[in-house]
Amino acid sequence: MNIIKDNKLDMEALKDALKRPEIWKQSTSKFWDDEYISLQMLNSHLDPEIEAASRTREQIEAETNFIINYTDMNGNKRVVDLGCGPGLYAREFAKTGARITGIDYSERSINYAFEHVKSTYKNTDFINMNYLDLDYNESFDIATLIFYDFCVLSTKDQNRLLANIHRALKSNGIFIFDVVTENRKTSEATSILVFDKGGFWSPEPYIEILKTSIYEEAEGMQYTIIAEDGTTRVIRLYHRLFGLEAITSLLNDNHFEVERIYKNLQGEPLGEDSETFGIIAKKA
Ligand SMILES: C[S@@+](CC[C@H](N)C(=O)[O-])C[C@H]1O[C@@H](n2cnc3c(N)ncnc32)[C@H](O)[C@@H]1O
Repeated sequence: MNIIKDNKLDMEALKDALKRPEIWKQSTSKFWDDEYISLQMLNSHLDPEIEAASRTREQIEAETNFIINYTDMNGNKRVVDLGCGPGLYAREFAKTGARITGIDYSERSINYAFEHVKSTYKNTDFINMNYLDLDYNESFDIATLIFYDFCVLSTKDQNRLLANIHRALKSNGIFIFDVVTENRKTSEATSILVFDKGGFWSPEPYIEILKTSIYEEAEGMQYTIIAEDGTTRVIRLYHRLFGLEAITSLLNDNHFEVERIYKNLQGEPLGEDSETFGIIAKKA
């Protein structure tokens, strides 16, 4: 895609960058597994102070402690961490002796996890694949999906993932994940930024047009990235925002029972104004 057509600006493409896209409209280029972006993501995962690609090291410690205690994670358990990134949670889980499988479709993150986690913890394994294609049968006691990844999926993909997780879990197995709630709604906005020395999306100069849109049950961020030669990429990220009823019925429809819902995966109690849910769901 190019914003310059026959030596002129393509006004329709510019208008598209500024208007609210149809919900769940696909990106025109890669995100997690793009060569350059995945390097930015990995650096962000590994920065212990920043809550961007992963949470801060302090939060990760509080969450892994909570999950390990809640599930009584030990050497007899098998855990699958979906969207494991560079293995920050997997490393903590592995210290219990449990057998951990981390799955992520960022090759760069999986390579990092192999080098820095599997090298020390032989009870871990890391697989570079799309977790929507998860294909195990009654293999795991615990499945985790952490940092609101569930919300970025369309309802169709959420159902597909839940069906695959259900099949992959042993009887009474549990699925632990977090979502953002309706309380977190931001507002519609447009911003245009110039990165003349490159930035998160590209090492070369570019313009970023960010259109934030609000839908009935979701928020969406559309990034239109325009390079100096007019080459244009559009990356769209959505978050479905859940209420208690919606997440409970989605889980029940997929044969899970809600065991507990907390404010977060540190086990803090839920309040009416919680912007996030940390959810423990049991295979029914
Ligand atoms: C926000 S990061 C969170 C990483 C990790 N859970 C953490 O909190 O440190 C999301 C991760 O999910 C991975 N991911 C996103 N969609 C995926 C998919 N469909 N299949 C496999 N991995 C996916 C990304 O590559 C990225 O590493």
